[in-house]
Amino acid sequence: MIMTRHFLTLLDLSTEELRQLMARAAELKAIHASGKLHESLRGRILAMVFEKSSTRTRMSFEAGMAQLGGHAIFLSPRDTQLGRGEPIEDTARVLSRMADVIMIRTYEHEKIERFAEYAQVPVINALTDMYHPCQLLADIQTYFEQRGDIQGKTVAWIGDGNNMCHSYINAARRFDFELRIAAPRGYHPDARILADAGEHAALVDNPVEAARGAELVVTDVWASMGQEEEQAKRARAFADYQVNADIMAAADPQALFMHCLPAHRGEEVAADVIDGPQSVVWDEAENRLHAQKALLEFLLL
Ligand code: CP
Ligand code: NVA
Repeated sequence: MIMTRHFLTLLDLSTEELRQLMARAAELKAIHASGKLHESLRGRILAMVFEKSSTRTRMSFEAGMAQLGGHAIFLSPRDTQLGRGEPIEDTARVLSRMADVIMIRTYEHEKIERFAEYAQVPVINALTDMYHPCQLLADIQTYFEQRGDIQGKTVAWIGDGNNMCHSYINAARRFDFELRIAAPRGYHPDARILADAGEHAALVDNPVEAARGAELVVTDVWASMGQEEEQAKRARAFADYQVNADIMAAADPQALFMHCLPAHRGEEVAADVIDGPQSVVWDEAENRLHAQKALLEFLLL
């Protein structure tokens, strides 16, 4: 019996598989740039369940499936039975009968785990409260194309110990880099996820220390989706955690800046950093498309 592979966290793939995926993402990007048609997923269907908003994730999966000759169907709780209480287990079984692969963006990570348990086709995590692994594929692809291998490099995570931070911790394990995390008290990443990363990830006392000599500096919003009512409280807690020119000056002179977007200029990042020469956020956003096409091929072919 062939086991259905899912992509709920980066740890679902081995280092070797992730590295192959990065190589394939670069190939698919080159094929697309050459204008050649590459319809490896002709006739395949992706079901996309979005319980939270999205610009990049929806666009990249939908465009990616179209470019590969397949089709993507957008489903939201506002206009499906999911929003009226149909059990997640039943939805998983039904979508599996009609789609070849399912992508979900939701709140609790346990929900996507339960969904995957009942699905008969691959399930992709398109963001939960705990992880955002698809974004890491794009981030690592971007680092590779700008600077070469990320193995042995130092990455600074500055800000909330959130879903993106957790996926960076897992990326540090799989791609063998050192992650330094500067987060205010009360907003540290999950202790278990951090402990499981061993020497690959560590908390440091302040943002300058995290950034010192780092080859990549990364941040994310202070209030994630679902935390809107905490915005003011978080803005106070994170006031000293903005990635600005001082932080970038502490980093390696060749350091890159990344942000998964959407960004809030003047909050987690200063405008002159995100719009400055070290920022690669637009390549990073574009690479969602190429990296996820490689992921779809990996799961389906
Ligand atoms: N970075 C990211 O996942 O963006 P969206 O929320 O727009 O999909
Ligand atoms: N941490 C953010 C990422 C958005 C892509 C959120 O969960 O809202």
